[in-house]
Amino acid sequence: MEIRIFDTQEEIGAAAGKIICEFTKNNPDCVLGFATGASPVPTYNYMIKQYENGEVSFENIKTFNLDEYCDLPRSHKNSYYTFMHENLFDKIDVKEENIGFLDGNAEEKAESKRYTEAIKAAGGIDIQILGIGRNGHIAFNEPSDEFTGESYKVELTQSTIDANSIYFDDIAMPHYAMTMGIGLIMESKKIVLIATGDKKAQAVYDMVNGPVTPKCPASILQQHSDVVILLDKEAAQKII
Ligand code: PGA
Repeated sequence: MEIRIFDTQEEIGAAAGKIICEFTKNNPDCVLGFATGASPVPTYNYMIKQYENGEVSFENIKTFNLDEYCDLPRSHKNSYYTFMHENLFDKIDVKEENIGFLDGNAEEKAESKRYTEAIKAAGGIDIQILGIGRNGHIAFNEPSDEFTGESYKVELTQSTIDANSIYFDDIAMPHYAMTMGIGLIMESKKIVLIATGDKKAQAVYDMVNGPVTPKCPASILQQHSDVVILLDKEAAQKII
């Protein structure tokens, strides 16, 4: 694990954004894995700036996102599909037909198979962006008794519901989501994980220094050969 610590979220966004933009310049038809949540937004802002400045084109990339809520129409303002369009896709030249998303309203097994095959057909994910939950989750892989494999439907924990329900003002937050499993995430060739703020400090400590255990799903990243972890000082406070 390569760990880098920064002063501001903008610096983290620039660091992650540079990794993505440089790779895309050299590999215009690369496959990028994206995450939702607050953590990657500065990264997306950096990518948008680079695109607007004519430094990079995303015209030929393919994308896959980590997860999507169940029981929520894709067009709802709180869907992750909408989040990605508002925060990145509508502001760069990625083609809509090259955007891969889990369907939270599809039949679980068939949808998992479809997603795995789509990622494989694209050649696998070159760079996967990740956040981390306060409980050590990555994507919606919550702490549990075993590591997960491919995509599946998960019941969200109270910790995750508490963290995310602030975004839902018109309806109750869904309690289920479809998520890429740990096994599928680990197949990404490179992983860039972003964490900021003191609420993430314990999860960051457990991810980096704890035993590899499904009780802290992010700890599995210790076994990946190409992981970059970008932190601010608050998130890094227990490891420095
Ligand atoms: P956040 O979420 O980026 O909004 O903190 C990260 C996560 O829960 O994985």
